[in-house]
Amino acid sequence: MMIAEQPARWAGWDITILGTDISPSVLQVAQAGRYSHFEIQRGLPARSMLEWFEADGSDWLLRGTIRDRVRFLEHNLLVDALPPGPFDVILCRNLLFYLTPQHRERAVARLSDALAPDGLFMPGAFETMLAKGSPLVRDPDCRGFYRCAATAKPLGHLSTG
Ligand SMILES: C[S@@+](CC[C@H](N)C(=O)[O-])C[C@H]1O[C@@H](n2cnc3c(N)ncnc32)[C@H](O)[C@@H]1O
Repeated sequence: MMIAEQPARWAGWDITILGTDISPSVLQVAQAGRYSHFEIQRGLPARSMLEWFEADGSDWLLRGTIRDRVRFLEHNLLVDALPPGPFDVILCRNLLFYLTPQHRERAVARLSDALAPDGLFMPGAFETMLAKGSPLVRDPDCRGFYRCAATAKPLGHLSTG
């Protein structure tokens, strides 16, 4: 939606959006783009809701212009081959804190391998990548985002070193 709302800014970009999950049923729900009124009013501006969704009974259905921009893939982050990247942005929200420390370390290593050298990574609001030796460090300019430690600018007191 943000990309569609700023066509001039993204002119000339060939943008691919990939949504992955281990669960086929979760992917089916995501692909349908159907939200209850309760779900849709959690943070989406009313203007975007009216522009990009159409009412369908008591639900809101995402319009094809947005829905068709996203490709979905069943993928186990811990074992499956990474989809071809590198990715400029990776959002991985509210998964890492369900994993064991070993699995979390593996997932973070794999995600950072998939990230472009200057790419940005966003975990959930309550997840942190600041474990000692993490390949990802906080980005000083973009709140909530991390980037590859190997290519990041020095960050002073927040750096994992
Ligand atoms: C708590 S939900 C978070 C969903 C969404 N990101 C959000 O913030 O609302 C965690 C999701 O991670 C998926 N998941 C669990 N283990 C996974 C794995 N190894 N690889 C890929 N996805 C996994 C689950 O199927 C579930 O959809």
